[in-house]
Amino acid sequence: MKKIIEIISAEVQQAFADAGYEAEYGRVTVSNRPDLCEYQCNGAMAAAKAYKKAPIMIANDVTEKLANARAIGEVNAVAPGFINMKISAEYLSEYLAQVKEDENLSIEKAKEPKTIMIDYGGPNVAKPLHVGHLRSAIIGESIKRIGRAMGHKMIGDVHLGDWGLQMGLIITELKERQPELVYFDESYTGEYPKEAPFTISELEEIYPEASAKSKEDEAYKERAMEATFQLQQGQAGYMALWNHIMNVSVTDLKQNYAKLNVEFDLWKKESDAQPYIPEMVEYLKEHGYAHLDQGALVVDVKEETDTKEIPPCMILKSDGASLYNTTDLATIMERMKLFHPDEILYVVDKRQELHFIQVFRCARKAKLVEEGTKLQFLGFGTMNGKDGKPFKTREGGVMRLENLIHDIDEEMYRKIVENRSVKEKEAHTTAEIVGLSAIKYGDLSNQASKDYVFDIDRFTSFEGDTGPYILYTIVRIKSILSRYREEGKDVSACRLLPAASASEKALMIEAAKFNGVVENAFEEKAPHKICSYIYDFANAFNRFYHETKILGEENEAQKASWIALLDLVRELLEACIDMLGFSAPERM
Ligand code: ARG
Repeated sequence: MKKIIEIISAEVQQAFADAGYEAEYGRVTVSNRPDLCEYQCNGAMAAAKAYKKAPIMIANDVTEKLANARAIGEVNAVAPGFINMKISAEYLSEYLAQVKEDENLSIEKAKEPKTIMIDYGGPNVAKPLHVGHLRSAIIGESIKRIGRAMGHKMIGDVHLGDWGLQMGLIITELKERQPELVYFDESYTGEYPKEAPFTISELEEIYPEASAKSKEDEAYKERAMEATFQLQQGQAGYMALWNHIMNVSVTDLKQNYAKLNVEFDLWKKESDAQPYIPEMVEYLKEHGYAHLDQGALVVDVKEETDTKEIPPCMILKSDGASLYNTTDLATIMERMKLFHPDEILYVVDKRQELHFIQVFRCARKAKLVEEGTKLQFLGFGTMNGKDGKPFKTREGGVMRLENLIHDIDEEMYRKIVENRSVKEKEAHTTAEIVGLSAIKYGDLSNQASKDYVFDIDRFTSFEGDTGPYILYTIVRIKSILSRYREEGKDVSACRLLPAASASEKALMIEAAKFNGVVENAFEEKAPHKICSYIYDFANAFNRFYHETKILGEENEAQKASWIALLDLVRELLEACIDMLGFSAPERM
């Protein structure tokens, strides 16, 4: 469906043309003085110069022509030449009735859907998921859902880190502890055991220990690097261990992401790109893109307009080892070959920006992507504690994601039980649903690139700009709808009438913004725009709710109209939170 603002703009543009002026001047914006009007057009001011006429004269001419405009209810020319408008209440209710009927709830889906790969999550196998990975998962998941709502083919890839030093460290530590394991017997030629020689909790304990040792003990680190190298060369025993590590960790990762309501289409990993490396290196050399610099193979990526030094993109170290750059470039080749995306979007910590500048420039320069392929880096800021430093446990350690979720759920449970609104049995499930909204909304309501403070008390509050407040509003609507049903009436048969009060009209205007907000959030890859929209929307609803006795209304047609409006508001709010990656309970 067309956006309301476009419809009104079209009418005003027509009026400019009818009055003998260039239609272009008729562009309309949402009013920045909601006390005076809902929409405004400042085009008469600009037209005044071109037509050498007083702006108010032009505004008057246009206003006259707008007398019969369908979407505009009230229009005034105001000195020095503003055109102030209010939308027609009849038109607004008709528009919303169409929204209700529309299968996409008014969203105009992309006419030429794009294939967009979104690289997010990015956990490193065998290392516990910590809060650093939380933002990527939350933001990426939301952008993926917004893109889908817009009709694009979004392919989410977790892009596991499975090929780095952490693997060598684990192998080394295992060898230290259990040298008798068959994986370390180089003369062994039989089949390796199906069962992993460790559990997930052992694995998670092994990595930090190995990592700590490698920092203190140079020889240990050497051994870990050697093991990493051997693994990458395909040494059979190490490959078998790698398989065990993968299986055990991926099972655990999937459970954790499921708790976050985060779902990947692809579970590809860094190692999948390795087969592309030899061919890529050959190609880069052959076409003269890469050259040797002190033994290392590099591609120059600096540009004349750079204001800061962009170092060359290193493809191979002097010992022939590949790097993070190499893997990312080879992954781009793989993605082009398998999925041929129009766009690849990376949702990664903004501290990796330089890496992506280098990789993107190199991919473009060497034509690993097509000219039209868009490569985009969406760098997010750090999640800090109340002390303004990166979020830690109370003891100062790295906070594990599981524990963070647990803390939030506990706090939510406490608040829900305090409210006594749900039965004990339900309280735990409800706490999990609401807790997720607290975490996700707390994160997504900030512009992604900014750092933010993770504040459990604020995020779990039922009041203010929080996830639980939004859910509380939805639950309030659901409860009114179900009481209406209990009267034996049919919600879906209710017909929407023009707004009967200012607060109702304000709520309707919010509802009509939905398509524009989603479109803009997608264009700017900005879930926070959806958050600020639903916060305003929920506030508009609550103002209307406090002023209106809905179920007590005696005029049945009026009551039915309010029910129809509530049902639409619920549907729109639920569509929004679905795009943010959480849902609402029935009660809370
Ligand atoms: N595993 C990486 C990390 O933890 C993030 C991966 C991001 N994606 C990418 N294609 N480089 O830092």
